Amino acid sequence: MSIRINPSILAADFVNMESALHSISSADLVHVDVMDNHFVPNLTFGPGMVGRIQDVSPIPLDVHLMIDDPERWAPGYAELGAFSVTFHAEATTNPVAVARRLREIGSRAGLALKPGTDVEPYLELLDEFDQVLVMTVEPGFGGQKFMPETMPKLRLLAETAARSGSDLWLQVDGGISEDTIAIAAEAGANTFVAGSSVFASDNPALQIETLRQTASR
Ligand code: DX5
Ligand code: ZN
Repeated sequence: MSIRINPSILAADFVNMESALHSISSADLVHVDVMDNHFVPNLTFGPGMVGRIQDVSPIPLDVHLMIDDPERWAPGYAELGAFSVTFHAEATTNPVAVARRLREIGSRAGLALKPGTDVEPYLELLDEFDQVLVMTVEPGFGGQKFMPETMPKLRLLAETAARSGSDLWLQVDGGISEDTIAIAAEAGANTFVAGSSVFASDNPALQIETLRQTASR
């Protein structure tokens, strides 16, 4: 099974973003957290900054939108050239329309679920998505504690995807470290977002390798 490690630049030094991006060039994708201070109680950056990240990043972008009104804003991130654009199920009444638009523009479409959001209503829509992000903390901040109670959702997604033979990427985000990554891998995750665990390390490249090895075991 292929494993992807996507460091989250939320934990990077925002005024030295270009060197932060180069320090993680051995990762698969760079996870870019867009927050609007409405959907979550925190604010990061928007299309201008994400466009510059896209220009200078050695690896492709995995954009995670923690924003209201993805119908309006998500397509713009796909147009910037993001490899994948993930929006929250809780932020829209028409996730399928957003996903179709993203795919039409040429990005992978991702659906994110907060820890308290049930996955069952979305199981029949999985063909419309390339990836599902199971939040393993409440969205909004880095450095929080991994919530193992979200693992049954991942198991259900993994079983459903296996039954239909689909290559759905199952992503976890929040509190992923060498201590928790194996729990998520065992439950069926294959794509791992890690913010503080990578950027608090003196050697991000080595930490990416450690996470990769631990998830593959
Ligand atoms: C939280 C963000 C995460 C965050 C993870 O809302 O979506 O991507 O950067 O940070 P860590 O790995 O520190 O929990
Ligand atoms: Zn994220």
